[in-house]
Amino acid sequence: MNKTILVIGGAGYIGSHTSLYLLQQNYDVVILDKFIHDQYFPKNLGKLIVGDFADTKILDSIFSQYKIDAVMHFAANIEVAESVKNPSKFYNNNVSNVIALLGKMMQYHVNNFIFSSSCAVYGVPNEVPISENCELNPISPYGKTKFFIESILKDYDKAYNLKSVSLRYFNACGALPEYGLGEQHKPETHLIPLLLKAMQENSPFKLFGNKYPTKDGTCVRDYLHVWDIASAHCLALHYLMQNGISDVFNLGSEKGFSVKEIVDKVQTLFKKEIKVFIEKEREGDPHTLLANASKIKDILNWKPNFSSLDLILQSAYNFEYGFRKKDQEFRKSILNQFLA
Ligand code: UFG
Repeated sequence: MNKTILVIGGAGYIGSHTSLYLLQQNYDVVILDKFIHDQYFPKNLGKLIVGDFADTKILDSIFSQYKIDAVMHFAANIEVAESVKNPSKFYNNNVSNVIALLGKMMQYHVNNFIFSSSCAVYGVPNEVPISENCELNPISPYGKTKFFIESILKDYDKAYNLKSVSLRYFNACGALPEYGLGEQHKPETHLIPLLLKAMQENSPFKLFGNKYPTKDGTCVRDYLHVWDIASAHCLALHYLMQNGISDVFNLGSEKGFSVKEIVDKVQTLFKKEIKVFIEKEREGDPHTLLANASKIKDILNWKPNFSSLDLILQSAYNFEYGFRKKDQEFRKSILNQFLA
């Protein structure tokens, strides 16, 4: 019998790609999502329940109705700068609500949890590339929420035998336009969609800081295609269910690009000029985040197959401007073919 995975936030960016990946690997998927954005959501991406995971009655109803084998959690608030301004929102949703969720899982004897952690747990890293052994010193409330849940998960494993894998994502990007899936944050704050928008609309692009101690003064990040993130979730799930061992893994491409390099690459790839304006540094931005991902490669046998910069940028562009903006109906018909 297929295993059934509850994917909380499964209609969002990483959650939707992972749900599709799970379905392709013959898992049954139950998605719980607030659906607050008017995101386009493919039909048949799994059973969709519209609701808030903070609503314990909804959790009761799901856990009593379905035999859930594992839970994946993608419904966190993610914006670092917002977390500095409004930490209470982050501590409530990313910590309190997750503790309540873990309580419900234990009540219904669901013992496997895949947690979306972040490289933000390292803060300003004392070593680059960053391995899992680097000191954890989050500098934003967002990063602290991820650090707190990772710590809670360790305690829950010891005390209650709740098993988990935490994946510390570096920068998620790219899309699967042929399946109608891509980045649809509201408001959008991420580099690649904003850069493509500025290029397409011939509007100014704000580059946050060019005096960092990096190769060209702009921040360096490790960009990972969302389909490679989805495959890591599936491997982590398999590992957890086979071995019953909790663990933590970095999830990154191990390639660092500066913001300026990304801007240059977009201009070359799409043969268009972007009007770049240098702004002051954004609060909470470490200058370099670059993964050492050897642990996940060795233990889970994961490797990134889609994370070339060309593929990331082209797929993000095709999602935003090929499918999303221009031809919703065409996109729906393609989806129906793939997912009917
Ligand atoms: N940037 C700009 N201009 C923009 C947007 C971004 O210059 O308009 C820069 C940022 O300052 C940063 C880089 O582009 O240097 C990447 O920024 P993103 O917002 O795309 O991504 P972040 O690195 O800030 O965020 C990612 C994840 C977060 C996670 C964080 C860890 O999206 O969820 O890494 O620090 F918490």
